[in-house]
Amino acid sequence: MKITIFGSGYVGLVTGACLAEVGNDVLCVDIDERKIDTLLKGEIPIYEPGLQKLVINNIQSGRLAFTTDIAAGVAHGLFQFIAVGTPPDEDGSADLQHVLAVAQSIGTHMESYRIVVDKSTVPVGTADKVRHKIQSILDKRGIEIEFDVVANPEFLKEGAAIEDFMKPERIIIGTDNPRTTELLRALYTPFNRNHDRIFVMDIRSAELTKYAANAMLATKISFMNELANLAERLGADIEQVRIGIGSDPRIGYHFIYPGCGYGGSCFPKDVQALGYTARQIGYQADLLEAVKTINNRQKEVLFDKINRHFKGNLKGKTIALWGLAFKPNTDDMREAPSRNLMEALWKVGASVQAFDPAAMDEARRIYDNNPNLKLCTSPGDALVKADALAVVTEWNVFRSPDFAKIKASLTDPVIFDGRNLYDPQQLTREGFTYYAIGRGHVSI
Ligand SMILES: NC(=O)c1ccc[n+]([C@@H]2O[C@H](COP(=O)([O-])OP(=O)(O)OC[C@H]3O[C@@H](n4cnc5c(N)ncnc54)[C@H](O)[C@@H]3O)[C@@H](O)[C@H]2O)c1
Repeated sequence: MKITIFGSGYVGLVTGACLAEVGNDVLCVDIDERKIDTLLKGEIPIYEPGLQKLVINNIQSGRLAFTTDIAAGVAHGLFQFIAVGTPPDEDGSADLQHVLAVAQSIGTHMESYRIVVDKSTVPVGTADKVRHKIQSILDKRGIEIEFDVVANPEFLKEGAAIEDFMKPERIIIGTDNPRTTELLRALYTPFNRNHDRIFVMDIRSAELTKYAANAMLATKISFMNELANLAERLGADIEQVRIGIGSDPRIGYHFIYPGCGYGGSCFPKDVQALGYTARQIGYQADLLEAVKTINNRQKEVLFDKINRHFKGNLKGKTIALWGLAFKPNTDDMREAPSRNLMEALWKVGASVQAFDPAAMDEARRIYDNNPNLKLCTSPGDALVKADALAVVTEWNVFRSPDFAKIKASLTDPVIFDGRNLYDPQQLTREGFTYYAIGRGHVSI
């Protein structure tokens, strides 16, 4: 099938590469010329395991191409995927300017039937806006061309994006007619072999499903962080509590890890956007507001512990920081807790020596030549002459470090663990002062 994908970011690129891999003829369109130039050279602008190989193979097989030519994109695909960003606007709403710009392009250039498939995360009612935009341009052009709009939200996880796309837990198709249902079913057949994962529903429910999923996951995290803060003050250990509650199958072990807050390009913006949608219709979504507030507070917790340990004297101190990305296996630093920590440390005159297995270029891009940020070549390099270690992202490489070496490098053997990676007893035995999240008997 012929497919056009607007937006070559995490979602667009993975969608394009995976759809090409199963035999489709895919053209990816982006307005960012540098990004397209990079992709045409077979280089991948983001870190995503397995993606580079998939992209190169499919470029070479002639099934995957990239362009900035919007008209060519509209001419190419029966399916016109929208996979552009929907960043938060100042008021917390989802900014739809990129989605509607694509709709405008489709309306301007289409000459025959098109199925517009919205993969971006968009508020309920966006499909109607997209439809209206395209129709109003067709009306201005004075022509009648049929088109359909489908909501097909994406659930891939950065770091496991290809696996998630190839073997999805669900494929949500929000549509208002059987014609598009059948065409989308056919498109997704290769990803639906082992059992039926396709859920067909009305468009509004499909749009809301994506927000509901992210809001639920964010709620689980904020719930555990709330409990962790309580455990800490009550002299209990949240890790024991986690194991205790996870054993109940109605609760389960997934996604109940306490930490230093959720980040990334999705949870923060989607929780906010859903809250905004609620306010717009006059509904007070108290739970969503609390999830957001708790998370914002949690992103300050590591700094507070560091500040308290050093009794407010952080000026001139150097903190080694392990992990910049918002989670492991990605270089994405959007809304990452590492940023809150570094910025708070800089504000009080401390400096940071950081290492991340994938996000060093991203940190360089964001913080340019900040003199208070030294980007180091290894976890060990980040420790040299540092006053303390803070662990912010749970990359595997940080899970079982050589504690003797850490102790020898730090001027003060203290670890602030934002992901509860280590055994408090072991660290105490090794002579560390160890602060974790919600482990009341070991941390302040
Ligand atoms: N990143 C994720 O893990 C993830 C997962 C599921 C859903 N989503 C959703 O998918 C959408 C895309 O997210 P992303 O992380 O891939 O975004 P991204 O910022 O990585 O990429 C978006 C791309 O769209 C391009 N673009 C903007 N306007 C354009 C236009 N008019 N025509 C063509 N290209 C245009 C940008 O240049 C950019 O390359 C968002 O709505 C997001 O919420 C993201």
